[in-house]
Amino acid sequence: MKKFVLLAAALITTSAVLTAADVATNWDANCASCHGKDGKGATRAGRTAGVKDFTDAAYQKEFTDQKAVDQIKNGMKDKDGKEKMKAYADKMNEEEIKAVVAFIRTLVAPAK
Ligand code: HEC
Repeated sequence: MKKFVLLAAALITTSAVLTAADVATNWDANCASCHGKDGKGATRAGRTAGVKDFTDAAYQKEFTDQKAVDQIKNGMKDKDGKEKMKAYADKMNEEEIKAVVAFIRTLVAPAK
């Protein structure tokens, strides 16, 4: 519940049209296969792709919102040019991508 309050607050600043439910639907449909519903990336595809744990505050600090937005738009390749994560620019608009980044920020576990 706390997550959804945080998410709703984040969404007010990014969008008046998208609802928290829309964002969660986007996440479940496009991202959860690798990143996991909970963001831990503990799925088979997530382990294969080598995703990191979005509940880890230190990892969340490694990327800015802008970097995350760019990566979701353009995808990510490894150093050999092999695709690690595909590009979503044709599936989600700018607003949806920003909202999903705000959603990712709510996945982080409170500091221990
Ligand atoms: C095919 C598996 C896969 C799917 C599906 C996927 N990702 Fe990723 N994602 C990855 C991998 C792999 C990484 C990179 C981990 C690393 O840093 O090496 C990553 C990293 C990220 C990062 C970190 C960005 C950074 O700059 O470090 C964000 C944000 C992200 N993904 C968001 C998303 C969102 C949002 C979706 C759905 C729209 C999504 N991902 C779908 C595999 C996936």
